[in-house]
Amino acid sequence: MTTATAQAFANIAFIKYWGNRDNTLRLPSNGSISMNLDGLFARTTVTFSASFGTDSLRIGPRPVTGPGLERVSHFLDLVRPLAGMNWRAEVVSENNFPSGAGIASSAAAFAALALAASSAAGLDLSEAELSRLARRGSGSASRSIPGGFVVWQEGETDQDSYAFSIAPPEHWDLVDCVAIVSTGHKKTGSTEGHALAPTSPLQAARVADAPRRLDLCRRAILERDFESFATIVELDSDMMHAVMMTSAPGLFYWQPASIRVMEAVREWRAGGLPVCYTVDAGPNIHVICPREQAKSVERRVRKLTGVQDVLMAGVGGPARIVS
Ligand code: PMV
Repeated sequence: MTTATAQAFANIAFIKYWGNRDNTLRLPSNGSISMNLDGLFARTTVTFSASFGTDSLRIGPRPVTGPGLERVSHFLDLVRPLAGMNWRAEVVSENNFPSGAGIASSAAAFAALALAASSAAGLDLSEAELSRLARRGSGSASRSIPGGFVVWQEGETDQDSYAFSIAPPEHWDLVDCVAIVSTGHKKTGSTEGHALAPTSPLQAARVADAPRRLDLCRRAILERDFESFATIVELDSDMMHAVMMTSAPGLFYWQPASIRVMEAVREWRAGGLPVCYTVDAGPNIHVICPREQAKSVERRVRKLTGVQDVLMAGVGGPARIVS
C-alpha cells in the first residue's frame, strides 16, 4: 500500500481558456493566463493498494459514484502505466470553497490529484510533467501546479501544452474578492462547454485575437500596470461570455446580480478606484484589485443587492505535498 496527500489552490484566469483543439487530450484552442488563489484549495489523499478491487472516491463526507468516479478513474489510468503498476486507488478529497459555481474547483481538484496520485505511485514528475498530467483531468488544472502568476502555453502536442510561472506570488499583491451570488451547481459544466465553443461564430475571432490579449496581459502583470490589466481582463472575460452565449445551444451563466456587480465595478473604476471583474463558467464575479483597496472593495461588493457572500483570496503558491 502506498499513499500521498497533496494540496493545490484554485486559480482565476485573466485570459481565459474556452474550447479545445483536441477534446481528449485537452489541448486548448488558445493559451491562457491566471493567478493561483491563496487559501481556496483542494486537499486530496490517494492510496493505492493491491487489495482494492476497484477505484473509489469520496469528496468530503460524500462517496461519489457514476460519472464523477469514472472521470477520476480514467485519470488514474493515465498514472498507473507511467508507474508500471495496476493497483486500484482510494481517493479522498475536500475543497474549502463551494464547487460548481465558477470558482475553478476542478482546477484545484485535478492539480491536487495529479500530484498526490503520481507521488503515491512512486513517480517523481517535473513541474511541466505534472502540469501536463493535471491538464488531462481538467484544462485549467494545468495552471494550478506552478505558483503565482501562470501562463499555460497552448502548445502543439501533449508534450508542450503545459503551464509555467511568469512571476511569484509576491510579485504583485492582487486580491480576488469573489462575489458569491449563487452556490448552486451550474447547468452546463466546462467539459461540455468547451465542446460547444466551435459552434459559436465568434469563437474563431476570439481565438485569432488571443495572442494579442495574452501579450498585453502578460506585460501588464510584469509591469504591475493595473489600468492596462483591467482593460484586457474585462475584454477577455466579455469575449468568452459572448462565445458562450452565441454557441448552439447558448450558455448563459450570468444572473441579474452578476450584472449588477459588473456594472458597479465599471462605475467604481471610472471613479478612479483600481478594480476590475472577470467571470468564469458560473454566475459569481471575481472582483480583482490591489491589496490596498481590498477592504474598501469588499465593503462595497457586500452592499450590492443579491451578493450573498464575498470570498477573499490573495495570490497563491504552487501545488505541494502535505503530510
Ligand atoms: O478546466 P475547465 O475545463 O474547468 O475549464 C475552465 C474554463 C474557465 O474557467 C471558464 C476559463 C479558464 O481559463 O479557467
